[in-house]
Amino acid sequence: MPFLSDTLSRVKPSPTIAVTNMAAELKAAGKDVIGLGAGEPDFDTPENIKAAAIAAINGGKTKYTAVDGIPELKKAICAKFKRDNGLDYAPEQVTVGTGGKQVLYNALMATLNPGDEVVIPAPYWVSYPDMVLLAGGEPVFIEAQLETSFKITADQLDAAITPKTKWFIFNSPSNPTGAGYSREELKALTDVLKKHPHVWVLTDDMYEHLAYDDFEFCTPAEVEPELYDRTLTVNGVSKAYAMTGWRIGYAAGPKELIGAIRKIQSQSTSNPPSISQWAAVEALNGPQDYIPVNNQTFVRRRDMVCEMLNAIEGITCPVPEGAFYVYPSIAGLIGKSTPGGVEITDDEVFAKALLEDKGVAVVFGAAFGLSPNFRVSYATSDENLKEACTRIQDFCATLR
Ligand SMILES: Cc1ncc(COP(=O)(O)O)c(C=O)c1O
Repeated sequence: MPFLSDTLSRVKPSPTIAVTNMAAELKAAGKDVIGLGAGEPDFDTPENIKAAAIAAINGGKTKYTAVDGIPELKKAICAKFKRDNGLDYAPEQVTVGTGGKQVLYNALMATLNPGDEVVIPAPYWVSYPDMVLLAGGEPVFIEAQLETSFKITADQLDAAITPKTKWFIFNSPSNPTGAGYSREELKALTDVLKKHPHVWVLTDDMYEHLAYDDFEFCTPAEVEPELYDRTLTVNGVSKAYAMTGWRIGYAAGPKELIGAIRKIQSQSTSNPPSISQWAAVEALNGPQDYIPVNNQTFVRRRDMVCEMLNAIEGITCPVPEGAFYVYPSIAGLIGKSTPGGVEITDDEVFAKALLEDKGVAVVFGAAFGLSPNFRVSYATSDENLKEACTRIQDFCATLR
């Protein structure tokens, strides 16, 4: 009898974490490495949020809470959905988990039966397919191309839906491309979903507030109210409030689904940390004015990275609408070789050679389901980004 479960053989470890680990090992061995793999803002958590957490500790709010969140946080989340998205939710339609990651995982665990299909646009956040597989479902991918700015079309969505489709996962602005769907682009997708009443929408709005230039964020249940009863809208405090380590994510949707998610959470982790929940109350209810200030920094970095990468012959780097990632194509470099004789056959070889030759760590596109590309996270200092992009330019100039 094998000791490890069969389910485990269906999934792989997170490739983004693997790249981060590889860069850390090289750094520990004394190599000068710049990591562009991190999926978290380099800003500190705002002071008012830290103060709320300290007050929670001093006030003895350090005990178990309700499994899926304290009433104060649920109230703040309902107010956030109303304020930012024009969506009405009651507290019993809200769940709070240990990061958006746990909420997404619980939602899939609570709903998927063997053979159920989940439609996922590629390139995708690395965890979606493996979470679907862990929950016993089957991921079905739709490839979004560089030519359509990494966004899928209505026809592609329509063609991917079968009688077995349970969920459509939507993520805008996206990790790994930064692509954000306009209201018109999203409406084209929700029109397709209206025709398929058995399909539910799992929208991951984690990068809602990281939207740049004149791009306006929108979310499916708001764009198409007909979908409200079959949409789970997931969000969190990790990215906009620089709170990745606090581990608070949340979602709103139909009461029955929220109850199913709570049941899973009650038999696994119970409540998310009480102190982090009080910090999240302050994040959502407190001042929001540092978000546009941080965004100015992100826009400046995005523009610099895109300009420096687009200056390289063989690389095409679209300028995305949001998040803190760009997803350049290296199609023009495939088939070339490094001075050491390594042929660039795909994006994994490219990323490995770049790390070994120039000490720049990026994540290869195959990890996100679309090649030949790589992902750059520009959530690091301007200085690091400039040096890293100069090294990428130097590396590419040596390819023959
Ligand atoms: C698209 C997307 N969704 C969800 C998450 C999970 O965020 P958290 O669990 O920190 O709330 C991430 C984190 O990288 C992400 O990029």
